[in-house]
Amino acid sequence: MTSFPTGPNTTETVAPAAPLLLFDSGVGGLSVLAKVRALLPQAPVIYVADNAGLPYGAKTEAQIAARVSGLLGRLTERLHPRLVCIACNTASTIALASVRDVLEVPIVGTVPAIKPAAAMTKTGVIGLLGTQATIRQAYVDRLEAEFAADKRLLRHGAPELVAAAEAKLRGDPVDPAVFARAVAALRAMPDGDRIDTVVLACTHFPLVRDELAQAFGPGVTFIDGSDGIARRIAFLTQGQRWQRKIPDLALFTRGGIDVDQLGSTLAAHGLERVATF
Ligand code: DGL
Repeated sequence: MTSFPTGPNTTETVAPAAPLLLFDSGVGGLSVLAKVRALLPQAPVIYVADNAGLPYGAKTEAQIAARVSGLLGRLTERLHPRLVCIACNTASTIALASVRDVLEVPIVGTVPAIKPAAAMTKTGVIGLLGTQATIRQAYVDRLEAEFAADKRLLRHGAPELVAAAEAKLRGDPVDPAVFARAVAALRAMPDGDRIDTVVLACTHFPLVRDELAQAFGPGVTFIDGSDGIARRIAFLTQGQRWQRKIPDLALFTRGGIDVDQLGSTLAAHGLERVATF
């Protein structure tokens, strides 16, 4: 077992140009990157999208664990990040522990925001939107048992929302029926009409928050884990020096027209260089 820092890593060994590495299956992690930028604007960043493996939500646990551990192993060896953020709920709820076992770099994962949702709900009924893989995880069962045992947590796997977020950020049209279907699925569950808080348990979903809010109508509050992740990264890198020597980079595991279409979105997130890995 490798040991991990539980507090700020202020060792002199962290090179000022060492980047933060944010990892997702696609553009979802950009919702996390936006929050990280707000707290740590001077941090050099490499954003990695395993778009050749997208969508993770339709894969098995074994496929995701093998893919994420293998990729992060190669990426950390080559890029020497000071910290890795798995900006993906699916990968984190399945592979966080095994990735931590094999990598020495500090790893921050993405946990469905069930705890804050339980503190916020007035009706006691929480909706959770995630991928099909995330909603069946024991990790989510444990969060529910620990923080929402006296609440009702209604889970819905919504792969269509992942595709919708990808399309939106590429500038492609998105059918509003996609959002209506996700809302209808939650509302149709027992007590679904009393949902007042929705956990966006997939990093793609904050990218379509406005569309979801419109489909839900008034009286529903959304929560996701991105603020907590950004705070955790700031805490773990407290006291470290930052120096951006080259423009920040977005790496994709597969190139193509869809990646070309993302150029302006990536630039808007400060990712001025794009390459394949
Ligand atoms: N962004 C990922 C998450 O947070 C999932 C998207 C996918 O299915 O690949 O769960």
